[in-house]
Amino acid sequence: METVSIDKEIIHESNNSIIYKTKNSKTEAEKIFKVSKQQDLSGLYNEFQIIDENKSQFGNSKIVFEDSKTALVRDFVKGKSLKQLLSEGKFGLAFFMEYAPKIAEILFEVHLKNIIHKDLSPGNIIIDEQTKKVTLIDYELSTHLRLSEAGNRLSFDLSNNLPYISPEQTGRMNRLIDYRSDYYSLGICFFEMLTGTTPFSSEDPLEIVYAHLAHTPPSLTKYNVEIPVIIDTIIQKLLSKNAEERYHSLQGLLYDLNKCFVSWNFSKSIPDFVVGTSDIPAQLHVSQVMVGRENELQTLVDCFEKSANGEKVVLKVSGYSGIGKTMLIQEASKPLTQRNGIFLSGKFDSLQRNTPYSAFSQALDLLADLIMSESEETVAKWKSEIADSLGDLAKIIIELNPKWEKILGNYEALPSLSGKELQNRLHFVLGNLIKLIASAQHPLILFIDDCQWADDASLDFLNKLIVNNDINYCLFVLAYRQNELSTSPLLVHFLTH
Ligand SMILES: Nc1ncnc2c1ncn2[C@@H]1O[C@H](COP(=O)(O)OP(=O)(O)O)[C@@H](O)[C@H]1O
Ligand SMILES: [Mg+2]
Repeated sequence: METVSIDKEIIHESNNSIIYKTKNSKTEAEKIFKVSKQQDLSGLYNEFQIIDENKSQFGNSKIVFEDSKTALVRDFVKGKSLKQLLSEGKFGLAFFMEYAPKIAEILFEVHLKNIIHKDLSPGNIIIDEQTKKVTLIDYELSTHLRLSEAGNRLSFDLSNNLPYISPEQTGRMNRLIDYRSDYYSLGICFFEMLTGTTPFSSEDPLEIVYAHLAHTPPSLTKYNVEIPVIIDTIIQKLLSKNAEERYHSLQGLLYDLNKCFVSWNFSKSIPDFVVGTSDIPAQLHVSQVMVGRENELQTLVDCFEKSANGEKVVLKVSGYSGIGKTMLIQEASKPLTQRNGIFLSGKFDSLQRNTPYSAFSQALDLLADLIMSESEETVAKWKSEIADSLGDLAKIIIELNPKWEKILGNYEALPSLSGKELQNRLHFVLGNLIKLIASAQHPLILFIDDCQWADDASLDFLNKLIVNNDINYCLFVLAYRQNELSTSPLLVHFLTH
């Protein structure tokens, strides 16, 4: 009888896990057993769940119990980790040009599955130098957006991959992690693929954290003058502290990398060009929201349609930071231009809570610009309509924003009021102005962003607008970040009811 033996060898051991490779002597099948060293096995189960839900892409996996240990079993991926290749001295421009686009592509595929990897680092990228195939592994920290929107798992030992984490992953930026966090980590990996070292390294973990938050990464040309400036530009863009300043989409990055690749292959040099020209804002969102987003967009368009037909519609859009609410709303307001609609927006700011009405003064500012860009005739028409409606109180608009004097002309100072009376007068004036603008000729979308930071006076005013039956032809879009709703019961009630 033929005997089948299973060879077993440890191929990796870290603080987090031990990885065994096994080989079946008969079938030659090679498997990986990942045994967690952590008490908390949630990472291992998380990885299993993510792989299992995306079998077609990631292959089969299972959880087994062996020697009273829990292990995740996967197929062995041929090749070496990027970490190992780097330690063997494999880095530099040619190496980068060969593999960087492939790594970006593989990350793109992962993002298309709505997965943020969150632990992108050389140890988690496997490269088969024979076939040139790149595989991304280790989904312990990853987040499947539909499974957990917030996805802010920070319960892991950050010290592991500290040089690769994004500023927002340090937990000190008061913002949630989204797919762009992976762009940052990708930028660090790219940096290392070119120079053999990460931009921020130190013995002291806190120093690394601080550098991610505050230090500008060194220019790549400092390490190697042969690195084209454009590559430096691309990587610096990925390494922006602020997620908004990184690429918005991996297509945008891939387009740029590909341009480099083509020049490089042709002439072993890469000229400068403008980066980000094919960047599509919120691209992962496109997939993240593919179904949802289309529906949400439709909801917005429907709401606008209703308001354009004379209704007043209030739409509260909740979501986490960085999921593209603003984009969504801007997108939805496009058909509006065809209907002479007016799109005004303003946002509240966490730092301006003590300056009441900040969002409304921004909207007022936009409106002034809009009116002033019209013909003299139209400006005069607005002027007389506002004068008719507000009389001397039009002065209040000028007080709120002096730009308006150009439209409205001079007004006498008003008797000074204080407290509630002052507030009421202001609400009356702004309410009337909105009533005047929002009309069958000019349906209005008033988009107020970051309502979680609204001051009490503004909330009061918003409430009045909403219940005011004289205001029609108007869509109020009130966006707020679910995760940052403050503890103010008034605010929570207002936004969620
Ligand atoms: N499926 C696999 N195929 C080949 N090598 C693997 C596989 N899974 C893990 N490894 C090797 O084990 C190392 C650690 O695996 P990983 O899942 O990243 O565990 P950890 O959570 O400890 O980082 C990888 O860097 C890689 O060298
Ligand atoms: Mg790993």
